[in-house]
Amino acid sequence: MIQVGKKNSRQRIGILGAGQLALMLAQASAALDLEVVCAGRPGDCAGQVAEVRNVDLNDAEAVAAFAQGMDLVTVESENIHADVLQGLNLYPNAGAIGIAQERLLEKRFFRDCGVATAPFVAVDSLIDLHQGIREIGRPAILKTRRLGYDGKGQVRLHQSEEAAAAWASVGEAPCILEGVIGFDAEVSLIAARARSGETVFYPLVENYHREGILRVSSAPFLHEDLQQKAERHMTILLKRLNYVGILAVEFFVANGNLLANEMAPRVHNSGHWTIEGSATSQFENHLRAISGRELGSTESRPTVMLNCIGSMPPEAETAAFPGLFRHDYGKEARPGRKVGHLTFAAAEQAAIMEWEQRLQTR
Ligand SMILES: Nc1ncnc2c1ncn2[C@@H]1O[C@H](COP(=O)(O)OP(=O)(O)O)[C@@H](O)[C@H]1O
Ligand SMILES: [Mg+2]
Repeated sequence: MIQVGKKNSRQRIGILGAGQLALMLAQASAALDLEVVCAGRPGDCAGQVAEVRNVDLNDAEAVAAFAQGMDLVTVESENIHADVLQGLNLYPNAGAIGIAQERLLEKRFFRDCGVATAPFVAVDSLIDLHQGIREIGRPAILKTRRLGYDGKGQVRLHQSEEAAAAWASVGEAPCILEGVIGFDAEVSLIAARARSGETVFYPLVENYHREGILRVSSAPFLHEDLQQKAERHMTILLKRLNYVGILAVEFFVANGNLLANEMAPRVHNSGHWTIEGSATSQFENHLRAISGRELGSTESRPTVMLNCIGSMPPEAETAAFPGLFRHDYGKEARPGRKVGHLTFAAAEQAAIMEWEQRLQTR
């Protein structure tokens, strides 16, 4: 009899990117008997727990060759050029990522789906910018359409005289100009949609940013009406995108309503608390969704996450707090860089206050 080589039935998932999101996806894969391989650069932090292959994510051929050896691929960043994503067995699909990586398409998509946003106009020239300021008023925010994160690629305009300097500071790149919203809170909704269409939602999270960088996520943002509204919006977005995986949508809460700010076609910083706070983390549910599995329960308890920006606090200091979960991404310290996070049960109020001070979250 001919012996047929036994096929390895473990699904192999390729992640485009090898930063902390890939690291936490790889950690979650252990529970699912999946293999995770990352495309990144030598020394990227996911290498601590998974294989990282040296792949230039701007090189379509290199990415296609990487994807060849995988059952399917996913992304840890929306900023991979749409051309590079074409033709891959990709979850979520390239169309969804293409919208989420371009602020003008994204904002128009929200509006098309009946989801309100801040007022905005497209800006392709200094003339457009002056016209936009007249239309939207001041203050306003000029944002590059592509590649913005942690408040980068954004300038606030208080006077129309600032237009020329603002236009120069974004490198005259295609932009949108947005009205500044005097929000009561910033919240995000994270959902997972399976290949079958089954969808689960996490509770709304309240997010606090300083200098454009997320500092604190506190779950749940308890508001039954807004939770329902956000879930209704999310359901429409997911269906229209034919989406599979985790999608995060950031909203402003203003006058009791939700205005969508942006969406991330991937696991999201405001969902890191789900590792300890939920029956199934966002990382596990993303892997479940894209690999064709059923989704896990999103039952959650009140939880707070604090980001460590720039550097990690010494281990001896965090170890003194038994209710604190320390996540050190193993990244080199650098100002403004997300290098780790701390998670607490919301009941640990004294510890949370202490660490908000130490991490200068406010
Ligand atoms: N139109 C706006 N009105 C008020 N605040 C804003 C507005 N746009 C952005 N911000 C503030 O800046 C933060 C970062 O902006 P965002 O558009 O989410 O870009 P990114 O997260 O990609 O850097 C937001 O979370 C919010 O705190
Ligand atoms: Mg944002």
